Amino acid sequence: MDASDLLRGALLQLSESDTVRRAVVAAPVSRAVVDRYVAGEAVEDAVSTTADLRATNRLATIDHLGEDVTDREQAARTRDTYIALLEALTEADLARYGATEVSVKLSAVGQSIPRDGDAIALDNARAVCEAAEKAGTTVTLDMEDHTTTDRTLETVRALRADFPWVGAVLQAYLHRTEADCRDLAGEGSRVRLCKGAYKEPESVAFQDGADVDLSYVRCLKVLMAGDGYPMVATHDPRLVEIAQALAGHHDRRPDSYELQMLLGIRDLEQKRIADRGHQMRVYVPFGRDWYGYLVRRLAERPANVRFFLRSLTSR
Ligand code: FDA
Repeated sequence: MDASDLLRGALLQLSESDTVRRAVVAAPVSRAVVDRYVAGEAVEDAVSTTADLRATNRLATIDHLGEDVTDREQAARTRDTYIALLEALTEADLARYGATEVSVKLSAVGQSIPRDGDAIALDNARAVCEAAEKAGTTVTLDMEDHTTTDRTLETVRALRADFPWVGAVLQAYLHRTEADCRDLAGEGSRVRLCKGAYKEPESVAFQDGADVDLSYVRCLKVLMAGDGYPMVATHDPRLVEIAQALAGHHDRRPDSYELQMLLGIRDLEQKRIADRGHQMRVYVPFGRDWYGYLVRRLAERPANVRFFLRSLTSR
């Protein structure tokens, strides 16, 4: 494990600390830091960022920031924000044919509520799916830490009975993921493959970056060979290249898979890929609860930390 792995681990630990969260959120964080990765606080901000992306031929998936909600009312408010967002996207003609979809974290719509969490999250996610269907688009369920993987995949299965287009996210850093890819590589299945962004123990996840990359390639091979719709979520140029080579090897048409990146990361490369006729979808987070999301982004690139710390002290 090298110094950057250690720093990444420390930052991911911070993302879970309430004390640090309160201190950072209250600090005069320069808007530039948050603005780089987050579209803004309101539905209108998400819609206008998406319109900009569409103007450069990029697709979008919008995430309302927030996680680990333990209050039923808050979970219902998040559900309603997604429904309002889908209506606003329809109004702006941005949702049709899946041009803009939504990404939902189950812990933001109730999964973490004691006892009935799974049922509450399923009901709320179902309401979001109904709104998405009306808008002519899809929903993908984000994947959170490994303690939620089975429950999240169970919810994907339950939703797919009524909404067969619901997508799942799988994380290549988990030992189990290659097997999950085999289970989910069937016809009609939409799978977003990412490396994984949480601090996970050795018992369940590869710790070394090179091992995660190798796992990512094994998972890509399964998904690209399958009959589903792979969504390749990475900024790693080597993995993007391998994904495109595998798609070619399996005679996949350009509309039978897509590449995905996060808002604010490798923006020029996103445009370049879209310009070359590939499907490039950008993950667009919006909302007030940006702390956990932002710290995970900083952990991915320790060089960003200096920039972030400077912004905490400058006004
Ligand atoms: P890696 O971190 O190795 O980065 C490769 C290169 O990309 C870096 O060398 C750098 O050039 C650039 N880069 C990456 N991150 C950067 C940053 N923050 N700032 C600047 N440059 C950066 N995770 C999860 O656990 N659950 C989920 O549901 C999702 N959902 C999701 C959706 C989409 C569309 C994407 C793209 C990613 C996710 N993730 C996720 C996050 C994912 O697991 C992972 O943490 C990040 O994508 C970073 O990993 P890369 O594959 O980009 O490789």
